[in-house]
Amino acid sequence: MKRFRRLRTNNHIRRLVRETSISRDDLIYPIFVAEGKNIKNPVESMPGIYQYSVDRLDEILIQINRSRISGLLIFGIPNHKDELASSAYDDNGVTQMAIRHIKANYPELLVFADVCLCEYTSHGHCGVVEGDKILNDETLPLLSKMAVSLAKAGADIIAPSDMMDGRVAAIRQSLDENGFIDIPIMSYSAKFSSAYYSPFRNAAESAPCFGDRKTYQMDYANGREALREIADDISEGADIVMVKPALAYLDVIKEASRYEYPLAAYNVSGEYSMVKAAAQNGWIDEKSIVMENLTAIKRAGADIIITYHALDAARWLEEDV
Ligand code: PBG
Ligand code: ZN
Repeated sequence: MKRFRRLRTNNHIRRLVRETSISRDDLIYPIFVAEGKNIKNPVESMPGIYQYSVDRLDEILIQINRSRISGLLIFGIPNHKDELASSAYDDNGVTQMAIRHIKANYPELLVFADVCLCEYTSHGHCGVVEGDKILNDETLPLLSKMAVSLAKAGADIIAPSDMMDGRVAAIRQSLDENGFIDIPIMSYSAKFSSAYYSPFRNAAESAPCFGDRKTYQMDYANGREALREIADDISEGADIVMVKPALAYLDVIKEASRYEYPLAAYNVSGEYSMVKAAAQNGWIDEKSIVMENLTAIKRAGADIIITYHALDAARWLEEDV
């Protein structure tokens, strides 16, 4: 008789036939660096997540380093914001200072630098604003300048998240012209306009002060368009492509894996906060839910997972060896 249950009789045999596993190498942990001194601010909407100033960043860097995950994704929160996001490409800006500190003290940690203007603009949009429009081509030179400045500070991988058209090509050209031919680009290729980002906008102080991001981020109804976005980023020179968010977009991740390029998925703030909230209420078991979610993201086809659960997951993976 056919019995599927033969391969489920005990933990050893289940491990033997497991199709998908998560490794610490797959995980990237996002961090928020605030300008100023002696800052460790809890992010209200994201239990366990803090904004740190550079002088207190070691508290989290030590943990990241010990966890043996691949690296971190850095978001800077500047004091000075203006129309043209000038702090974003200031070589002495908060993000640049933080990257220099990290690379000087933890050279083996991979530093992914998010490239987008929304944390740096006074209006909170990801590009240059004119009237009620977010301009595309006028934004590209600013993103390029930001990317070069972050590479100069020591970023290992440049990660544009703005969703302007043509930004991967523009950034690639500027990096190359400035001698950063070996710095890869991880593009947020299929980034959907999502309500799952709202806790992040608390954390990064980057909510738009008018309108929304629907003229540049993708409509969540569109799976095929996501594939066009990814194909285009690859042709513009992206080395790693991304789907974001992750859990409500597993179909897109699955389809995107056909490109045979390293594929990242961003398990975003709202996905994290919902798990934490339910866990804090005792309604779910946090460890089991997180491992199930992360495994599902890998099973769908992601190679790399950016997640606020990374440090917990690394600890749980180690416990289970
Ligand atoms: C900036 C950016 C956002 C996220 C990553 N980079 C927010 C946004 O587009 O408003 C979201 C990450 C998360 O929710 O965890 N463009
Ligand atoms: Zn942005």
